[in-house]
Amino acid sequence: MTLLSVTDLHVHYPSQGASLRAVDGVSLDVAAGETVGLVGESGCGKSSLGRAVLRLGDRTSGRILFAGEDFGAAPEGRLRAFRRRLQMIFQDPYGSLNPRHSVGDILLAPLTVHGIGKREERRRRVHDMLDRVGLPRDAAHRFPHEFSGGQRQRIGIARALILEPELVVCDEPVSALDLSIQAQIINLLAAMKREMNLSLLFISHDLSVVRYVADRVLVMYLGRVVESGPHDRLWDHPQHPYTRALIDAVPDPARRRHASPLPGDLPSARNIPAGCRFHARCPIATDLCRSVDPPLRSVAPGHQTACHHAGH
Ligand SMILES: Nc1ncnc2c1ncn2[C@@H]1O[C@H](COP(=O)(O)OP(=O)(O)O)[C@@H](O)[C@H]1O
Ligand code: SF4
Ligand SMILES: [Mg+2]
Repeated sequence: MTLLSVTDLHVHYPSQGASLRAVDGVSLDVAAGETVGLVGESGCGKSSLGRAVLRLGDRTSGRILFAGEDFGAAPEGRLRAFRRRLQMIFQDPYGSLNPRHSVGDILLAPLTVHGIGKREERRRRVHDMLDRVGLPRDAAHRFPHEFSGGQRQRIGIARALILEPELVVCDEPVSALDLSIQAQIINLLAAMKREMNLSLLFISHDLSVVRYVADRVLVMYLGRVVESGPHDRLWDHPQHPYTRALIDAVPDPARRRHASPLPGDLPSARNIPAGCRFHARCPIATDLCRSVDPPLRSVAPGHQTACHHAGH
């Protein structure tokens, strides 16, 4: 069953008298219980997309269906009912946790706002959630600054999950953490996802992070999805030169391969190149690429790419 369905989403910001097209026509589906990874280098529009999908940020146009209902067109007054079912986990949990509130109060707030349970039940749910995310119960009486980065992210996860949402957008949830802590948080998210049958839209600039959690991966470049497919398929048979470059940028100690950085810089979303938006950085670009924008097309079951020369 499709839980989230986004069609032709655009997020354009006014910028220096022009329009900055951060998201430039993205369509995507997330099925119930599925984890979709969204990858692409910094600045390609991932956060703008994630926020727009939850109606937490700007949206210029595009349809958003949630559980078959037109969430994108729902009036403000109806958003609260959706909010409970849709949550977000941020890169910097500290920035999103009120430093003057105890962890217990931070976790109680969503239950109070949504009028869930009586006092005793709320307390029980807070304690239960602390257990599930691997925090001690006395954490409820402590404040965010008393915790390490990894523990703060556990608090952020607890806060997002306490309402038992159906879809969680995780925006770079481990990017600010030490490498050794990243795996713990990814494992926690994967376990919570299984236990609670969540759907996740998991955003990361790092393809290797997404690899361990995502059933399916979308590769984003300058506001567009340029390749999508099952994660094994994308990893083993990437079709788009940008996906290949992202894979090459991941160090692979098993194959004793060094990471090669992506060539060139991401062009400005204020001035998107004509034709294929990747052409200036693409090692196999031709004249066709410089003039004609390649549409997303199917190259194998469930595998799509937007490249004139893919599969040739
Ligand atoms: N509120 C905003 N106003 C103007 N430009 C923005 C805003 N948020 C993001 N941008 C621009 O939109 C583009 C995409 O940014 P973002 O969605 O944060 O990408 P990512 O999360 O992939 O790094 C960037 O060029 C960024 O500078
Ligand atoms: S369409 Fe052309 S420029 Fe774009 S990725 Fe494919 S080969 Fe490279
Ligand atoms: Mg971002």
